[in-house]
Amino acid sequence: PRTGFVLVAAGSGTRLGVGRPKALVDLGGGTLLEHALRRLHGFPGRLAVAVAAPAGHLDAARRLASAALPAATPALAERADARPAHGDPDASPAPPAADDVTLAVVAGGASRQSSVAAAIDALPGDCDVVLVHDAARPFAPRALAERVAGAVRATGDGVVPVLPVVDTIKRLSGDRVVETPERSSLVAAQTPQGFPAPALREAYRSATIEHTDDAALAAAAGLRVRTVPGDVHAFKITRPDDLERASRMLAGASE
Ligand code: CTP
Ligand code: MG
Repeated sequence: PRTGFVLVAAGSGTRLGVGRPKALVDLGGGTLLEHALRRLHGFPGRLAVAVAAPAGHLDAARRLASAALPAATPALAERADARPAHGDPDASPAPPAADDVTLAVVAGGASRQSSVAAAIDALPGDCDVVLVHDAARPFAPRALAERVAGAVRATGDGVVPVLPVVDTIKRLSGDRVVETPERSSLVAAQTPQGFPAPALREAYRSATIEHTDDAALAAAAGLRVRTVPGDVHAFKITRPDDLERASRMLAGASE
């Protein structure tokens, strides 16, 4: 089976406020885009990666993505010739096959949802499972992606990695508290989220409104969605203090 991996990296990073797209922000020896793709090294089985990049930074994104995934061959759509020539097949004990990892970098859209849609369209048709991941969560470990993909294959359902909510959550009307939902039934959703490829494609085709994540979009299309344990390293970089947390983590400092 081939796993499709959509990485959405086309956002502008307004809340981070660095003055360039968030995925192209440098942090400890690489951009967030590179960190996210490097986490895929060693992913078991065949992998098709599709990156949705900022339309104005396609060349840079393509260069960074190829460097971060040196084993990747350009996806068919981006190849000048149908199949690149390959080197000495006996060079290493287990050389990766030509298409073990493919990479496509396409322009994202105005919303996260349209960026995901563009990247899904750039995936080859033979993926059985698609993972959708935010470049803004560049330190999500490979094991998390493997756990999500495994659960999709085992169940045929959509799968969201989640962490328990630590704060007590209030539902408001204006500034008035109208409800305190039972915390034990609440979780925080992360990415990568995984789906059977045909169901995800169909859900995106039938989506009529903007959803806050892919699991919500898939559920609206009737797909059952279940959870697996998330990972603290899959935290999202949204504001400047998240960037500080990430750089502390990279430096190996305790938090
Ligand atoms: N994203 C995208 N295309 C968009 C908007 C968002 O690919 N039009 C991606 C971002 O690159 C990010 C993920 O979706 O990896 C989550 O979005 P978010 O954290 O909101 O990133 P930004 O939209 O870039 O940040 P902000 O909302 O602060 O502008
Ligand atoms: Mg955003």
